[in-house]
Amino acid sequence: MLDKVKELFNEIDGLSASNKAEVENLRVKYLGQKGIIKGLFADFRNVPADQKKEFGQLLNDLRAKAEEVIGGLKEKTGSTSTAGSKKEFDASLPGYPFLVGSRHPLSLVRQEIIDIFSRIGFQLSDGPEVEDDWHNFSALNFPEDHPARDMQDTFFVKNNYGKEELALRTHTSSVQVRVMEGQQPPIRTISPGRVFRNEAISARAHCIFHQIEGLYIDKDVSFADMKQTLLYFAKEFFGEKTKIRLRPSYFPFTEPSAEMDIWWGLNNESDHRITKGTGWLEILGCGMVDPNVLKNCNIDPEEYSGYAFGMGIERIAMNRYGINDLRMFFENDVRFLKQFGAAL
Ligand code: DAH
Repeated sequence: MLDKVKELFNEIDGLSASNKAEVENLRVKYLGQKGIIKGLFADFRNVPADQKKEFGQLLNDLRAKAEEVIGGLKEKTGSTSTAGSKKEFDASLPGYPFLVGSRHPLSLVRQEIIDIFSRIGFQLSDGPEVEDDWHNFSALNFPEDHPARDMQDTFFVKNNYGKEELALRTHTSSVQVRVMEGQQPPIRTISPGRVFRNEAISARAHCIFHQIEGLYIDKDVSFADMKQTLLYFAKEFFGEKTKIRLRPSYFPFTEPSAEMDIWWGLNNESDHRITKGTGWLEILGCGMVDPNVLKNCNIDPEEYSGYAFGMGIERIAMNRYGINDLRMFFENDVRFLKQFGAAL
């Protein structure tokens, strides 16, 4: 027995291996569950009692030796195999894809609308999303008891800083007021932004959405000027052949007020659905700025007049891309988003 162990010492000392697989074979052979050294430990009980101590010591040494030698071989072949892995590199394998972002459809549509109005001299402006009653309602000629101020529609914000009640703006018309307060005509501005209404979320309504507001104030601005500008916009955005119509409407801040439709067509079932069977699609609200609003903003209505308009970006994007559920814009599912526009 002792001789056998001594022989193994020599044998293990002289072990060599040239790759990982060979090392693994050696490990199994000497150190594995059914390996030589485990076998010797099993034989241990047959060793006479007076030799047990010496033999036990020797076996432990042998195991340590085997672990050391085989561990060393492992390291050696491990490092050579890194060098070898260069040889194994396969350039024909497909690479890792780099994910590239793309613009959100709402950003694309917003930017296109901004570009169209920029080309005829409209400048960008914006205002806060948390507004006071004056800019969102009072200055815009909303009567004290107007239903739009109702708790149903407006998210009021607790104001810890002053007595004034604040709210999330319900439309971007509030920016009109801020622009007029800060500057005398001529004014040509568009104001894109996020607006908030206390509405149940559905395929056609959301509590957050986006609008673009337009405002033009100067001497002798007429309803015809407004109509021409909006026709220009409709043709630029929807195509040269686009027709528009203005229907009388009501907004507290414009007089007269109108809603603008574009001719969408009635060629198939989806046209019927989108236009509710009329062929016309409502795109925006507009009108001549009410003299009261001008007065509220320190602009003399005897000297100046102007028009304003406001449109919902989601609505327009839904028509452009044939999206029938508004919630898609806010879910930010990459599979939805990556269908739009050029990569950044
Ligand atoms: N603020 C209106 C809304 O949210 C849209 C609008 C209508 C804006 C007429 C205007 C306008 O500037 O003249 O429904």
